[in-house]
Amino acid sequence: MKLRDTLKINEKGRLEIGGVDCTELAAQYGTPLYVMDEAYIRSVCRGYTELLSRKYPNSKVAYASKAFSTLAIYNIVRSEGLGADVVSGCELFTAIRGGMPASDIYFHGNNKSAEELAFAVRENVHAIVIDSLYEIELLNEIAGRQGKKQGVLVRVNPGIDAHTHRFIQTTRPDSKFGFSISDGTAANVIKTIVSKKNLEFTGIHCHIGSQIFELKPFELAVEKMTDFIAALSHNNIKVPELNLGGGYGVTYTSEDKPLAPFEYVDAIVNKLNECIASKNIAAPKLVLEPGRSIVGEAGITLYTVGAIKEIEGIRKYVAVDGGMFENPRVSLYQSKYDAVFANRALDKPCETVTVAGKCCESGDVLIENIELPAAKSGDILAVFTTGAYHYSMASNYNRNPVPPVVLVCNGESDYIVKPQSYEDIVSRDSVPSRLGECK
Ligand SMILES: Cc1ncc(COP(=O)(O)O)c(C=O)c1O
Repeated sequence: MKLRDTLKINEKGRLEIGGVDCTELAAQYGTPLYVMDEAYIRSVCRGYTELLSRKYPNSKVAYASKAFSTLAIYNIVRSEGLGADVVSGCELFTAIRGGMPASDIYFHGNNKSAEELAFAVRENVHAIVIDSLYEIELLNEIAGRQGKKQGVLVRVNPGIDAHTHRFIQTTRPDSKFGFSISDGTAANVIKTIVSKKNLEFTGIHCHIGSQIFELKPFELAVEKMTDFIAALSHNNIKVPELNLGGGYGVTYTSEDKPLAPFEYVDAIVNKLNECIASKNIAAPKLVLEPGRSIVGEAGITLYTVGAIKEIEGIRKYVAVDGGMFENPRVSLYQSKYDAVFANRALDKPCETVTVAGKCCESGDVLIENIELPAAKSGDILAVFTTGAYHYSMASNYNRNPVPPVVLVCNGESDYIVKPQSYEDIVSRDSVPSRLGECK
């Protein structure tokens, strides 16, 4: 694993994050534990904002909060000058509670409910990203009822193959997201929106996929989106905002070779400036929605090793106290991870093992075939790059509590999500009286 500034091995040979010893974090807070590194999050945010303020000031970075949505993260990214993209009523609720001004919020989703739309309009979100014909009528009516003209973007499908895992690639022709540009649907949808009394067309959006390492797909997206802006302007439709989504890759294992986060933005801006000039279009406000690249590498998950099972000549399982309830990405996307024993991070790997979770599913494996030092029960396993789409995707499967989240910075650590107790989980259950008393 490539270690970096605030992620290092200390003089005791133990892994340290944000100036805090991970073995001590495990002892203090218990495991499994999500740990988020505040300094890293801030440094990525600054990388984006500094570059954009120099090269394309009419811009906004809207943190894609589906990656990790809690009160504290909205507080951090807002203080770095970012807005937020939300995809549900409760993400919107959390963003606003976390201090994110509604005027910096973009609301996405291919099937937002009437209640969610009414909530967003009431809160005066900057833009709702239209992603279905059904939503146009519904939103127009809701905004009218509230006496408002709601700003909307239109999610379009520029039809780019970003060569990523098929489940997280969203712009194939066969996608539930976006209106196709090539078959004319997107232009027709925009014309319909422009004719609606209570909607204000403010721009177009696309998101070409996630965990993308190459610059080319992003440059291609800029090319196609600016072609579309030029075509719309020939029909006298102005496009004040161009939102290009997120998708910049991060390092999960040494096989991943992403560029630095700001390098993707640099390439996008260079291409956009070139296209604005060559196509003679009005420069739109540029909006970018990185999620994974802001929080992914900021996070690690700490586990305690429990059972160890060796099947002679076949495999050695090292079981930890987490699993698919706190990291469903392996079962969903066959995601790969790197890990070390945090309590002895300098020990040399000497065996290939499979890290298994504790859920009642044979497929509940966290890392298949990783080289580790000989595992002992009680070791603290640190899995890297778990800041994005882990806590936010966690569940109570097998009634396992969702682990707490601790934020570390300059040697300090604090809960940003408190532990869930058995009592918390059961508290929402209800037994109809006709079933009789529970014990
Ligand atoms: C509309 C939209 N914007 C932004 C993102 C963030 O992508 P990433 O976390 O890969 O940067 C996503 C991810 O699915 C998305 O659907």
